[in-house]
Amino acid sequence: MIRLLEERNFPVGKIRFLASERSVGKTVTFQGESHPFERLTADAFKGVDIVLSSTPASISREFSPIAAKAGAVVVDNSSAWRMDPEVPLVVPEVNKHHIVRHKGIIANPNCSTIQMVVALKPLHDAFTIKRVIVSTYQSVSGAGQSGIGELWAQTEARVNGRAAPAPSKFAYPIAFNCVPQIDDFLPSGYTKEEMKMVLETRKIMDDDSIDVCPTCVRVPVLHSHSESILVETERPITPEAARAVWANAPGLKVVDDPANQKYPLPDEAKDTDDVFVGRIRQDLARPNALLFWCVSDNLRKGAALNAVQIAEELLKLLPIGA
Ligand SMILES: NC(=O)c1ccc[n+]([C@@H]2O[C@H](COP(=O)([O-])OP(=O)(O)OC[C@H]3O[C@@H](n4cnc5c(N)ncnc54)[C@H](OP(=O)(O)O)[C@@H]3O)[C@@H](O)[C@H]2O)c1
Repeated sequence: MIRLLEERNFPVGKIRFLASERSVGKTVTFQGESHPFERLTADAFKGVDIVLSSTPASISREFSPIAAKAGAVVVDNSSAWRMDPEVPLVVPEVNKHHIVRHKGIIANPNCSTIQMVVALKPLHDAFTIKRVIVSTYQSVSGAGQSGIGELWAQTEARVNGRAAPAPSKFAYPIAFNCVPQIDDFLPSGYTKEEMKMVLETRKIMDDDSIDVCPTCVRVPVLHSHSESILVETERPITPEAARAVWANAPGLKVVDDPANQKYPLPDEAKDTDDVFVGRIRQDLARPNALLFWCVSDNLRKGAALNAVQIAEELLKLLPIGA
């Protein structure tokens, strides 16, 4: 997030960095200047216009209302507020018009949902999506720095003929494996991560009639999530028609040249801002269904970039600094 604010020349008058007491005494460099970490407290938000928050959900539940009450607008990365009817859940390419409804908190969606809705929205506008079947291939960085550490440690041990350290972040060893479980299971048999994709998609796209059938899988990839998506639409859809619609879609690039073996790859999407789609093909049996492959950097568009884009939209709407 810090890097994105710098790269995008976000107009910052004054910036402060709040964290837990673990970070007090450490510093962070922003635009060439060193800033101390300050402890997050209830009186930390006086005079603050925008809070970019990326804490555990429990911390956001406690402090976001306090920040909002102090007059700030919180853009929150945690899952604490996403399904609160009072809180807009925003992907700027899809529903930036929801931002004006905020009451001091705006939620940043789940990473897998963000990249999927950037690809779905133009199709929904043109063909009306009825059903989405999605399988995800989610990188370990989606589980934070410790997820990355776990993949490295297990891989290194296995390559060197040692027993891999026991899993702690993931349910099973992630090195040389795929784990079809992200977050806890619900009584329905779906995981919480899968239900985020169902419910958040409907809220962002403003359409409760869209059926989403997800399977979320953790794979031994460091960065970028991939998704295999099948959409069923009300009107007939073809790869050519989808490509034409996607050609003008904001934040999306089509990489689809099977003759030259060109399609989106997680390793190539790392450190980029777009959502990439490829492997676009017709369902073999149905004229109203299309399959494609969708890849994006989960830490940028799937998290930090989307939050900064929301803040940029806020700047346009609010009399900040007035
Ligand atoms: N699409 C998305 O928006 C997306 C994607 C991935 C993750 N997330 C969410 O983003 C959030 C952050 O994830 P993460 O893995 O980076 O979490 P984390 O490492 O546990 O915490 C991130 C930040 O919260 C601070 N923090 C933690 N406990 C605190 C406390 N008791 N008091 C004050 N500050 C505290 C940390 O400060 P210290 O460094 O001092 O501990 C750190 O600055 C999570 O809610 C996660 O689910 C969202």
